[in-house]
Amino acid sequence: MEKGPDVIMQDLTPKVYLQTYGCQMNKLDSEVMLGLLAKEGYRCVGRPEEADVILYNTCSVREHAEDKVWSELGFLRALKKEHPEKILGITGCMAQNVKELVFKRAPHVDLVVGTGEEHRIAELIEGIRQGERQTLAVEIDHGRAPDPAVFQTTQRGSQVKAWVEIMAGCDQMCAYCVVPFTRGRERSRPARDILDEVKGLADRGFKEVTLLGQNVNAYGQDLGGEEDFAELLHQLNQRSAISRIRFLTSHPNNATSRLAQVMAEAERVCEHLHLPVQTGSDRILKLMNRGYTVDDYRSLVDEFRSAVPGISITTDLIVGFPTETEEEFAMTLDLVRELEFDSAFLFKYSPRKGTAAYWMRDDVEEEIKKRRHQEILALVQEISLRKHRAQEGSEVEILVERHARKGPQTWVGRARDFRKVVFRGEGSYLGRFVNVRITEGRVDHLLGTPQ
Ligand code: SAH
Ligand code: SF4
Ligand code: F3S
Repeated sequence: MEKGPDVIMQDLTPKVYLQTYGCQMNKLDSEVMLGLLAKEGYRCVGRPEEADVILYNTCSVREHAEDKVWSELGFLRALKKEHPEKILGITGCMAQNVKELVFKRAPHVDLVVGTGEEHRIAELIEGIRQGERQTLAVEIDHGRAPDPAVFQTTQRGSQVKAWVEIMAGCDQMCAYCVVPFTRGRERSRPARDILDEVKGLADRGFKEVTLLGQNVNAYGQDLGGEEDFAELLHQLNQRSAISRIRFLTSHPNNATSRLAQVMAEAERVCEHLHLPVQTGSDRILKLMNRGYTVDDYRSLVDEFRSAVPGISITTDLIVGFPTETEEEFAMTLDLVRELEFDSAFLFKYSPRKGTAAYWMRDDVEEEIKKRRHQEILALVQEISLRKHRAQEGSEVEILVERHARKGPQTWVGRARDFRKVVFRGEGSYLGRFVNVRITEGRVDHLLGTPQ
């Protein structure tokens, strides 16, 4: 047989590397963008060196989050110099926040895409491929909810659980927070679109959804007030077949008794409420423009705890807000001790340009912020450990989400109240509901054995 010429196989599929920073909303945005790019034939790769398109989906919430991206961009300067054909793009909150300044500080960036134009990612990249230079796309259509079409191709990072955006933007204007500027005004998606998406996910075998919004309790307020969040949860519980429904984040201002009632009654809705309090001082709450007092918050926690048996309540806390005194910090410690949060995210105040608090002097020294952060962390951990140890010997139903990093026979699941449970088991547990006996409580998870 005659021998043909050697064929050199060339992989012509365009490749994208995408690195994500920030919150769940940003992670979902990344999954949406990857889906839109996959539709155009893109394949995902694990390193910038292998990619034709390098994207950073960024966060602006604290200065540190932006600093990480600036330094990544610094590293990429050499790669871009060697391979000018590679397309480098910044998307997400920092892109929205910093806009054309990205090109000034990092002239090797080709594309800056804000949170309102990420659905155009494929077309914008194509423009650069066709020879356009330094494209800036940072419009936010404040009046319009996200188009359901963009969610149809979302490339989910898990087979078991999925995020569902129920609203974009935030109208709260907390004095320290940049999110209203990076995400625009509140725009709720119609309940029917959300229901369709959740039904579709259940049909495809997903077991759990987490409904996402910066303040889910404000859901529907921009739709003329006919649909509210509690009603949305009720409808999803009645009309979808998804096993578990979670949601993030709730602002104390709009957490209603009806929400507590739905959480208690709706069997698909999990008993976990993430309810950021931020500080235990009324004076600081006022400066933060949070719109409630410590007493209001306390009553809310009492109400949810008595209405929803087994509920876990987690929170966010900021230390070192401008003018925070040692006494005021002690009030935050006292509140944590009193309310015994199941877990808390702790942040050191970081001034953000454009916010109301930016005009106050950032007068709590870094060393003091650090010390307050550590003190509160120690307390939060002590409470978690105590609560976890109290669960030893009990049995709990978990949904298995993934392998543990430790190895193929170690699994990670979550109880309805969001506690993480790690166990060993042979065979495939992924996506299964398993009853586990708790053998040991640790600070941030429980160990158990399947029953
Ligand atoms: N919409 C959500 C998420 C906001 S960002 C919410 O209100 O909970 C998550 C947390 O980051 C906030 O709750 C707050 O604790 C923290 N945060 C926001 N801006 C900050 C800043 N400038 N400095 C320090 N922490 C901040
Ligand atoms: Fe920021 Fe407040 Fe909106 Fe949360 S509720 S995103 S902290 S402005
Ligand atoms: Fe999220 Fe960071 Fe933006 S916390 S909303 S990605 S500023």
